[in-house]
This record gives sequence, C-alpha cells and structure tokens, in this order.
Amino acid sequence: MAHTVTLIPGDGIGPEVTQAAVRILEATGVKFNWESFEAGAGAFEKYHEYIPKELIESIERTHVGLKGPVTTPIGGGFASINVELRKRFELFANFRPIRNLPHIATRYPDVDLIIMRENTEGLYSGIEHEVVPGVVESIKIITEKASTRISRFAFEWARKYKRKKIHAIHKANIMKLSDGLFIRCSRNISKEYPEITYGEHIVDNTCMQLVMNPYQYDMLLLENLYGDIISDLCAAFVGGLGLVPGANFGHECAIFEAVHGSAPDIAGKNLANPTAVLRSGLLMLRHLGEQDAAWKIRNALDEVYRHKDKLTRDIGGKAGTAEFADSVIEAMENPMPNPPPRPAEN
Ligand code: NAI
Repeated sequence: MAHTVTLIPGDGIGPEVTQAAVRILEATGVKFNWESFEAGAGAFEKYHEYIPKELIESIERTHVGLKGPVTTPIGGGFASINVELRKRFELFANFRPIRNLPHIATRYPDVDLIIMRENTEGLYSGIEHEVVPGVVESIKIITEKASTRISRFAFEWARKYKRKKIHAIHKANIMKLSDGLFIRCSRNISKEYPEITYGEHIVDNTCMQLVMNPYQYDMLLLENLYGDIISDLCAAFVGGLGLVPGANFGHECAIFEAVHGSAPDIAGKNLANPTAVLRSGLLMLRHLGEQDAAWKIRNALDEVYRHKDKLTRDIGGKAGTAEFADSVIEAMENPMPNPPPRPAEN
C-alpha cells in the first residue's frame, strides 16, 4: 500500500533538500503518493494565497506532511507560514531530538537530548500592533489548556520512551503570570509521573547550563519562543542545523520538518546538507509504521558519515546535496552484512 503524504518543498534550500530526502525515502522501497504544494511567496505569485487552499485540503485528507523550510520576511511582509500551519492543524507539540550522528567529531560526543516545544501560542505567535507611532505592543498569550496539553504530551513521551528527566524552562521570575501558569501546569502534570524526575530552570541560566554541560538534561519542556531559540543552540552540539530533524504533532495530523530555515546564503548552490530533512523523513517513516525502512536509512546514514568522503560542506566535506543523497542510496543498496543492534529510539 502506498502512503499518501503532503509534500511542501518550501523555498531557499527547501526544494534541494526535500528532493534529496524524497529520493532516499523512495529508495527504501516504501511506496508514496506525494501531493506537492508550494507555500509562501512562491505560492502567492501563482495563486494569490500564501497557503493555497488545495494545500490545506491535502493535509486534511492525508494527515501527514513532509515540509521544507519557508522564508518569512523580516520586519514586515506576510506572517509566518510555519506558525499558520501549526495553528491551523493544532500541531501543538514540536519534537526535536538532538543526537550526534556517529563519527562526526563535535565538542560534546553522545548528546541525547529531547526538545519538546509548545507550538501554538506564546510570544512566537507574533500577535502585535502599533499602539501609536513609535510604540508597539506584542502580546504573549499563555493558556492553561495549551500548557497542560504540551506537558501531558511530554510526560507521556518520556514514559513511553523511558526518558528519565524533564526540565520545564521558564522566566517566571519576571513573567510571573504567563510563565508562572506554564510551570504550574507542568508541575501539576509531573505529579502523575513519579518515575520521571521533574525540574525547573530559568531560561537564561539554562543557556549557560547547556553550554557548560548538556548531559545534565534529558528532556526540555519549553514555551514556543524559548523552544525556537534553544533548538538552534542545541543543534550546535551535534554539528549544526544541517543535521537536526523535527516533527510537529497534533492529535489529528503531523508535519515533519527540519529545525533549519531556508538558508538564503547557500540556496541554489547544491551546498545544503539534506540530513536534517532526511532525518525528519525518518521520523515520518516511524510515524507511518515503516520501522524497517527507517532503520535502512539510519544504517545508511551511519555508513556515509563513517566514510566521510561524501559529506557536505557544513560538516567539513566537499560533496554537494545531490551527491550526498546518491551515496546514502548506494549505502542502502549495499547494506552492511551485520548492522548494529537497534536501540529503543524514538
Ligand atoms: P537558517 O536556518 O536558514 O540558516 C542559518 C545558518 O545555517 C546559515 O548559515 C545556513 O547556511 C546554515 N544552514 C541552515 N540549514 C542548512 C543546511 N541544511 N545545510 C547547510 N547549512 C545550513 O536561518 P536564518 O538564516 O535565520 O533564516 C532564513 C529564513 O528561514 C528566514 O526567512 C526564516 O524565517 C526562515 N526559517 C524557516 C523555518 C521553517 O520553515 N521551518 C525555520 C527557521 C527559519
């Protein structure tokens, strides 16, 4: 049976990296029907809509999406397509596993850290207006419903995948009501999971603690904006933005996308690393129940990274995006005779 998946190639490096990921996903032998749609500035030029209604209808039908990055104009222009999609489909949980690929030397080896970010409200929603010229107001809404929902999701995830600790990250010393509500909700939920150690850290201290010793954390539970910023910080532990995948989960739908953006500085140059989007696709395969295909890709990635001669420039190699994808496919077609045992990984 083929899986019907909504594909949003995005812009900037999006089309290059999603095309590479799609080729590799198809080479696993799993069958896909891709329903592909533009979003953002490109879509507007053609359809006069930043998110075409056909795209919305497709996700309503497929319930699963694979998405490349979409550029959001800075300091003006249209609102973020990402924020719109997350809100529209109530994709309330943004899951970002921060894990080293074996064989890449980084400052911290063997990092295994989960970021669980609230994805629908808070300052990141960008609800703003000009009160009078020279004065603007940006509104941060935090609700008990959304804070409890993400806390519950994080603790259930921790229980299912046997994670040991969750730290809720906040600034409730200053934002006593909004961040205060967020941690009150996570604290309440934590009481139902006595096997999981619960802690709270202030966000600025968390940045320092992470850089000093990332191993002290197991799962971070964060509001939307803190999750956005700390994701990029944590990506640096494992080799950069070209490597870190993500998933946006709701109760009905899921959209898989890398942490990184459209990288205009390298777009169209065959320089982008497709690993982050590919690993997002791997999370999608697991979501679709295609465990064997997911392991094929994981083992092939291990092989390519072990040999090092086909890596992209962001991690010290010389290969282009397409060449890297070719070598992953080649490694899949010639698998190791005795692949390593599969850890219980999510
Ligand atoms: P960015 O993540 O696009 O780039 C930051 C740096 O990382 C750049 O030097 C870039 O070349 C590098 N980089 C990113 N992905 C890479 C990859 N796969 N391979 C190699 N190098 C990579 O962040 P930036 O520049 O802040 O944002 C650019 C645009 O992307 C903005 O319009 C922003 O709004 C948008 N964006 C979209 C996201 C999404 O659609 N999910 C997420 C983050 C940003």
